[in-house]
Amino acid sequence: WERFRCNVDCRTDPRNCISEKLFFEMADRLAEDGWRELGYKYLSIDDCWSAKKRDAAGRLVPDPERFPSGIKALADYVHAKGLKLGIYGDLGTFTCGGYPGTTLDHVKQDAQTFAEWGVDLLKLDGCYSSGEEQAKGYPAMARALNATGRPIVYSCSWPAYQGGLPPKVNYTLLAEICNMWRNYDDIQDSWNSVLSIVDWFFTNQDVLQPAAGPGHWNDPDMLIIGNFGLSYEQSRSQMALWTVMAAPLLMSTDLRTISPSAKEILQNRLMIHINQDPLGIQGRRIVKEKSNIEVFLRPLSQAASALVFFSRRTDMPFRYTTSLTKLGFSAGAVYEVQDVYSGKIISGLKTEDNFSVIINPSGVVMWYLRPTLLPVQPLHARQQGLGEGFHPVL
Ligand code: GAL
Repeated sequence: WERFRCNVDCRTDPRNCISEKLFFEMADRLAEDGWRELGYKYLSIDDCWSAKKRDAAGRLVPDPERFPSGIKALADYVHAKGLKLGIYGDLGTFTCGGYPGTTLDHVKQDAQTFAEWGVDLLKLDGCYSSGEEQAKGYPAMARALNATGRPIVYSCSWPAYQGGLPPKVNYTLLAEICNMWRNYDDIQDSWNSVLSIVDWFFTNQDVLQPAAGPGHWNDPDMLIIGNFGLSYEQSRSQMALWTVMAAPLLMSTDLRTISPSAKEILQNRLMIHINQDPLGIQGRRIVKEKSNIEVFLRPLSQAASALVFFSRRTDMPFRYTTSLTKLGFSAGAVYEVQDVYSGKIISGLKTEDNFSVIINPSGVVMWYLRPTLLPVQPLHARQQGLGEGFHPVL
């Protein structure tokens, strides 16, 4: 959505308009350029794919000019490439872009249609519906999707329409209904937009962080890396911070023309390994310095962790000195550290050792830490999973 929006003008812009051609081409890129192997498997259609009217039987149909082969054919193509297909709907009278919505009386029928087409993910938006309709409709769609028997990832925009916070949003209930959810504003192609999202998610981390886990994730919206609004440093920051948030990594960019540097950020194997950590624990901001440096920590399986040192400064690279003790790590451990972007390894870092990182303006330094020696008495609950032996990473 963020990159291609509701461009339906295929006459003047055939290369970029929302059409099956765009999705066929992106499927080829995902399959041929190394994305699929890294886990970028879902090719998701957003708004503006459908015709302006349902058919005589009341079913949603794709726009006949822009999707002449139909969604089923697109799903078949995508599946044959080892990918999965996502589609967009809206609980309400219209989608946000003004296309037919899924009113309560259409929930079952639309779930059935998507399943018949072979859809693997549904993003259900919430434009043009009331709070009451959403409270009925989102759980109803969950039941309807389950009733189809087809595994379909269910992405809900429900909390975003309720302000994203309790008491209006019940995250315990949400986690039972949806696999992921948008809780905040749409991302735009700018660093300001990224910052506003980061601010909201970490200001509210006490509420949001515990809500995430395997099968139920916060979705801070798409990665805009590869587009026009972010510098190189800012692109690396978005990737690192989304990884700390355990966010679903949904790219919204043109994979036909993406630059090598943006591709390198999005295809960082260690980054993706951290993002996809099986424990699925969302990270938190643990330090906010007066110097405008912030530190984020995400606990990972096998007593590993990821640290992100983020600079909001606008002057010059900043030398930040701290120690793992100051960052709340238990004393007596020794770590092997890998810099996620440079790949450099620091061995034998003791908890009490002071160290420095140099962080560029609006950039990050990101560390992956694995203990080579644990404290005699593990103090952190998260360290208890240890004992199965370490798997060397990448
Ligand atoms: C917004 C939604 C966006 C996009 C758009 C489509 O409400 O948050 O992500 O789907 O609608 O019209």
